[in-house]
This record gives sequence, structure tokens and C-alpha cells, in this order.
Amino acid sequence: PLLGTYYCKCMINITRLKTIHAVKVQPKTVHDKNSTKFTTFEQMVLFRQNQARKTALVMMDSINMTDDVERFCMSYGRVLNIFPYYTKANKVFLLVEYETQNDVDHLNRNSVHRYTTGTINVITSLLLYRNQNHNFVKYKQPSMIKHYPYADFTVPTLTNIQHNLKQEKNVSQQMLLLYDTLKITDLNVRLRFFTAHQLMFYLSKLFTNISVVPFGSSVNGFGQLGCDLDLICRIKNNKVWKKLTFLSQRLPLIEREEQKQFLAVLSTILGTCIPGIGNIRNILEARVPIIKFFNMNTNMQCDLSCGNASALHMSELLYIYAELDWRVKPLVCTIRTWARNCNLTQETAGHWITNFSLTLLIMFYLQIKNILPSLHFIESIRGKHEDWQASLQFYFTSYFIFLVLEQNMHKVLGQYSWFTKWKISMPHRNTENLQELLHGFFEYYSIFDFKTQAICIREGIVKAKRDNSPVYIYNPFDATLNVSRNITLVELSRLIDSFQIGLQILDFPEENVIVKLIKLEPCTYKSRNTSKALFLNVVSHGDKQNENNSDRDELKHINRITNENNTNVSANN
Ligand code: CTP
Ligand code: MG
Repeated sequence: PLLGTYYCKCMINITRLKTIHAVKVQPKTVHDKNSTKFTTFEQMVLFRQNQARKTALVMMDSINMTDDVERFCMSYGRVLNIFPYYTKANKVFLLVEYETQNDVDHLNRNSVHRYTTGTINVITSLLLYRNQNHNFVKYKQPSMIKHYPYADFTVPTLTNIQHNLKQEKNVSQQMLLLYDTLKITDLNVRLRFFTAHQLMFYLSKLFTNISVVPFGSSVNGFGQLGCDLDLICRIKNNKVWKKLTFLSQRLPLIEREEQKQFLAVLSTILGTCIPGIGNIRNILEARVPIIKFFNMNTNMQCDLSCGNASALHMSELLYIYAELDWRVKPLVCTIRTWARNCNLTQETAGHWITNFSLTLLIMFYLQIKNILPSLHFIESIRGKHEDWQASLQFYFTSYFIFLVLEQNMHKVLGQYSWFTKWKISMPHRNTENLQELLHGFFEYYSIFDFKTQAICIREGIVKAKRDNSPVYIYNPFDATLNVSRNITLVELSRLIDSFQIGLQILDFPEENVIVKLIKLEPCTYKSRNTSKALFLNVVSHGDKQNENNSDRDELKHINRITNENNTNVSANN
């Protein structure tokens, strides 16, 4: 089943064992998952893409072959990392990272193609190991398998981690634990970039100037185990392709109709030529046309689009925010988990808030709290300094230096005008803990004036709305677009209600606050029931009469406006 329509597909079959060149015995390499720290998004993407190029994926018939395959792979080059895993279909794989891309080429050159007579054969990049008396191969470097237990892609259910959460008394610690348990693993990130690289392998045989790049939560720092893999098919522009460019330079977009035609072609190729691709659905009439499919070999639910360059800029922006302060990722993880468990967000798109819009709400709140800068500010720093991300980091952490100067040398330095200027421009460093920030987030949006105000991440301020959408978040890269225009009044009302309930749970801290917040346990809190008033404020647009209506009339009124609003949203879409 893994090979899909086998009649027209072929896998490279490793049938010969040949040690082509002597490989020095290397000391044991244990990969430290957190050891790689990147300065910029571009560096991170290039690093991961390069890693994918140096990686081979080998399928085995049985888990018992693991040692053999490891030994076999090590005979073709120096192996840096090895990750064994099995998929839901119980297929067993080894993801092998070599020191250089030459080693992978070497392995491929020494594999044979398994042709099936009477069918059209396609060369694939997937290797299949067949056990044929390979016992003579000796380990060329120490085995790594024991350091990497088999991964199986099981996403821990919240009920599973309930016990561990309860061990942590403090809300901030509970949030950190939640984040540590749910964040995507190093293997997961590798498989995401490898999936993109594999797609590029096939498509490059036909199209000479396209590349496939992951974006969204797989790369922006907010990914959780099991999240989808967003892929963008980019048209390489020879002039700028030597260096990946984000934010400042936009690659030419192809027109919508061309995008749809191109995606339809890709969809056919995916379905007929690439092993392990299943459940393909073309969603070409969406605002951004996409193809959805499942890659069974890497266990990835993928969304492939093309020409959607601003999505990459957005991923870079979120990546920068996620890296700027250690509190950002655990806070986003907790709020995303809370929203999912309150059914505020769903797996599918609809009239409810998406994880992406929710994340922008959080980023904006952190801007208001002086924890994150506006996009405008990032751009100004970026223009001035080569090592701009480090400068940004410095700017946002230098408040402590300021405190020392302020306390000890104020009298002396106060005479100098540059010191006064610097003091004014210095953001007040926020030192609130995760619990306080979570509380503040619920509080801020419980009383936010959604009726008239819009959120502007670019400037880091609230602005007037450009239309009557219930929630208005300016697209940071295109001020004419509202990122959250899909959200209806009913969904906004549910959102505000949930913010208030969240606030009340945090207001009356019992034990296991996070467990209760993400609905693993019922919670007793005193309802203040203020959201109905707020909601009416949002929907009535100043219609005083509504304030005196009975509950039933209110409901009718809300339904009517919601229906009108839904019609508008559908028309817009
Ligand atoms: N995006 C965008 N504008 C939108 C929606 C999405 O630019 N109106 C971009 C963002 O970069 C976003 C990416 O598309 O991160 C992927 O969207 P989606 O998969 O909906 O969100 P993720 O951030 O990937 O979150 P999730 O884990 O829910 O997939
Ligand atoms: Mg996504």
C-alpha cells in the first residue's frame, strides 16, 4: 500500500553491498537537539534545507533489520545522525543524515533500480533495503541506534500529560511543561524539510526553476506535534535566487489562473509518480488555491500552494517574534491549546478564528506589553545594522543595563542629552511571568473594543477598522487585507465569552489551573457574565434600543445580524 499505484512506480532497491571507499571510524555522535541556534530565519531555512540534501530515507521490511541497515548506510559515508521511525501504516524507516551530500549521492549511485516489466517506471528518491546476506558489512563507526529510540508520531493526548501537569504547582511551570510536551521535535522538523526536498527532487525533473519551501507553523516556532506542513512552490528568479530573500524583496507572483492550472498539473504528478502520496484534494477555488495531500512515508499532512510569497514573509516575522523573548512560545502554545480545547479553533477552515489570527492577537498583546517590537521598528533596525537581529535582541534586553546606569550614574549621565534621548527611546522592559501574561491576555481581549478598533502589528497600535468585519487584524504586509475577515459575530461572541471564562479561572486560582483551563477537569468559577453586554455592544453598533430587549429578542437580533454578516463574508470570499 505504501507504493500506491505500483504499476507505474519504482523504488530504488539496494541489493548490493559494496564498501567503495574506506571510512574512518568516527567518535560517537549524539545529536543535541537544541545545540543549533540560528541568528536569522534565512539562516535557519538554509541550514535545514542543506540538512535535507544530506539525508537519505531508507524503508525496511522489518524492525529487526535496523542494525543491518545502519551498518550498511555507514559503509557509504560518515553518518552524523540516524533516526528510526515507523508510520501509522507500520512501515519502518531510517532517516540517515550524512556528513556531505556526496555521501548520499554515493549511496544512490550504488543502489539498483527495481524495474517492473510491462509498466512505466519512475525513478524515485526512496530507498528500499532488502536483506540478502549482508552480514559481512562491519560497523565503520559506532552504532547510534541506541541513542535514537523508534519514533512513532503519536501525539501525546492531553489526558496523558494531565498527571505531569498536576505535578507542577506553579501556573508558569505548567505552561512551560505544556509547551515542552507539545512542541515539534527535531525529527519532525527534519521530516518537514525532507518532504519539501523530496517534492523538489521529482518536480525538478520537469520544471527547472522551482523550489519547494516549508512555511507556517512548521518553521515559525509555533508548530505543535501533528500540525500540518504548509509548502510553497516558488518560482526561482535567477537574479535573486543566490540568496533567499524575505521581507524586503518579493519574488514575482504568477497570476491566479496560472497558479490554479499549475497546481492541477502538480496534483496529477503527485498522484501518479510519487510513492507514498495519498488522499489528494485540489482546493483551487479558495482565496489561496492549494492542494492537500498526505505523505505516508514521512507522516505529513501537507498543503501545497504556489506564488503565495507574503506567507513566507509572515513566517519570518513570526519566527523573529518567537525568538525575541523566551515567553512567547510557551504563551502561544498554551493559548492555542486552550482555544482548541474550547472548540474556538477547528482543524478545518470556517467562520471561526484560526491559529494564525489567534497568534497575531497574542503578538499584538505582547507589543502592547513592550515585550515585542512593531514590524515598523524591526524594519528600521534591519535597515541600519547588518547583524540586525542581534541588535534587536540587544535593544530589547538592554533595559537591565539601563537600570544599572539609571540607579548608579543618573546624576552624572543626566547632564548629557544623548542619555536623556536614549532613556526616552528605551522600551520599558516587561518582566511579567507567564501566568501574568496569560491573565493579561485574557483581560485585554475581554474588554477590547472589537466594534471600532482594529489591530495593527506593523505599527504596534490599535487603528480604526476599514470595514464592519467583527474582528479586524491588518495584514502586516498588505494594509488593504484583514487577516481575520472570516470570523463571524457569533464566533466573536464565543471568543469573548471564552476570554472571560479563562480570566475567571485565572482570577480564582485553585490547584491545576492549566489543567482546568484546557478543560481536562471541570472548574468552579464565579461567572461575571459581562460578555453579553460586550457582545451587544459589538453587534448593535450604537442601537440603544437593544439594551432593553428581552433575551429572546437579543438572540433574534444577533442571529439576524450574524446572518447578514455571514452573507457579506461569503460574498467577500
Ligand atoms: N497566512 C497568511 N495569511 C493568512 C493566513 C495564513 O499569510 N490570512 C500564512 C501564515 O504565514 C501562516 C501560514 O500561512 O503561518 C499557514 O497558515 P495556517 O496553516 O492556517 O497556520 P499555521 O500558522 O501554519 O498554524 P497551524 O499550526 O494551525 O497550521
Ligand atoms: Mg499550518
